[in-house]
Amino acid sequence: MPDLHPQRILVTGGAGFIGSNLVYFLIDELGAEVANIDKLTYAGNLASLERVMQNPRHQFHRVDICDRPALRAVFEAVRPEAVLHLAAESHVDRSIESPGDFIQTNVVGTFCLLEETRHYWASLPAAEKETFRFLGVSTDEVYGSLGPTGKFTEQTPYDPSSPYSASKAGADHLLRAYHRTYGLPTLVTNCSNNYGPYQFPEKLIPLMILNALAGKPLPVYGKGENVRDWLYVGDHVRALWTVLTRGAVGETYNIGGNEERKNLEVVTTICHELETLRPRGAGSYDALITFVKDRPGHDFRYAIDAGKLERELEWKPKRSFEAGIRETVSWYLQNDEWVRSTTNSECRSWTESHYSNRAPLAPRLE
Ligand code: NAD
Ligand code: DAU
Repeated sequence: MPDLHPQRILVTGGAGFIGSNLVYFLIDELGAEVANIDKLTYAGNLASLERVMQNPRHQFHRVDICDRPALRAVFEAVRPEAVLHLAAESHVDRSIESPGDFIQTNVVGTFCLLEETRHYWASLPAAEKETFRFLGVSTDEVYGSLGPTGKFTEQTPYDPSSPYSASKAGADHLLRAYHRTYGLPTLVTNCSNNYGPYQFPEKLIPLMILNALAGKPLPVYGKGENVRDWLYVGDHVRALWTVLTRGAVGETYNIGGNEERKNLEVVTTICHELETLRPRGAGSYDALITFVKDRPGHDFRYAIDAGKLERELEWKPKRSFEAGIRETVSWYLQNDEWVRSTTNSECRSWTESHYSNRAPLAPRLE
């Protein structure tokens, strides 16, 4: 099958961290038209989309993926050529405290979206049916935890540890089942830890940057020896496009940065970057590091073998961890207003009413 060129794309979760980076990539780099469905939970932020909210190629719909009539209306209005599904509850710690939201959005929501996609897909003429794609964006956490050696491949059995990863595993199984049972052209990607602009400051990297700047403790779980494989978000969104347009239907592709770091190393790297870019004066940022009680069921190590994606679809990460971290620290230093928008709900509702951009999408591009 030759490469596909979908131009009218439905993105779910496009007001979140990876979603907003993806929306910019689709519009800026590819000139695509994006219909963006997002419920705007605490993690969704229209300030992350400021540059495209008035762009006729971007259409925002505040919709919960569990709301099937609303999904159906969007499918009918937009008539997408592809779906990139990112909407999810994404934070492991929150899933430990309140797993219900994770089951609801990640499992039930994915089911609702698949059902509405199937309904829409069945109505398409044969040629459009053939080229339609549904890509589910998933995580390496579905594979469980590694010891000190080895990497996750696409053949690694699923063994999730947290309610978050179990709910993502459920979603992945549904996607594959919809392909096998109904022929829906689904693909799944499993990616390692992302970092970069617009990440909500509950995740390790932005939390450490902002706490350090505020002179607050830097809470490292356990001894900080757990390992994650870091990928710059721009490399991830490029990989998603590669899989969507060139991947084989029904297949799974692992995506990773090949940049393993212990958590403590990540935190000290951030501290050193901050020392260079904004010296603390009163002692070093490292002095703020505080070891705290470990996360229950904390997976020890993740590492992705992305060989399949590299060999078959010729994707490779471009950013080294050092370059990506420097850029990310600089981005958070330069984007105070965005940082404030994540902590100020009044500001969030203001941006929402300010950007009520619900006009129909521009006509289909030839
Ligand atoms: P995020 O939490 O920053 O964004 C999630 C978005 O989904 C938010 O905008 C939120 O409002 C929206 N959302 C939540 N529930 C919804 C619902 N019921 N209906 C509609 N929208 C809803 O997450 P992220 O880090 O950008 O992750 C995006 C996707 O990528 C998730 O599926 C996640 O599992 C996956 N993933 C993330 C990483 C990572 O390191 N961040 C790595 C691998 C995979
Ligand atoms: O691996 C992909 C996953 O990466 C994604 O599927 C998730 O959506 C994403 O949130 C992320 O999950 P993690 O649990 O790995 O990310 P988090 O940033 O929460 O934590 C990274 C590591 O840092 C983890 O080992 C726990 C540790 N940590 C985290 C926080 C928030 C700390 O030591 N202190 C902290 O305050």
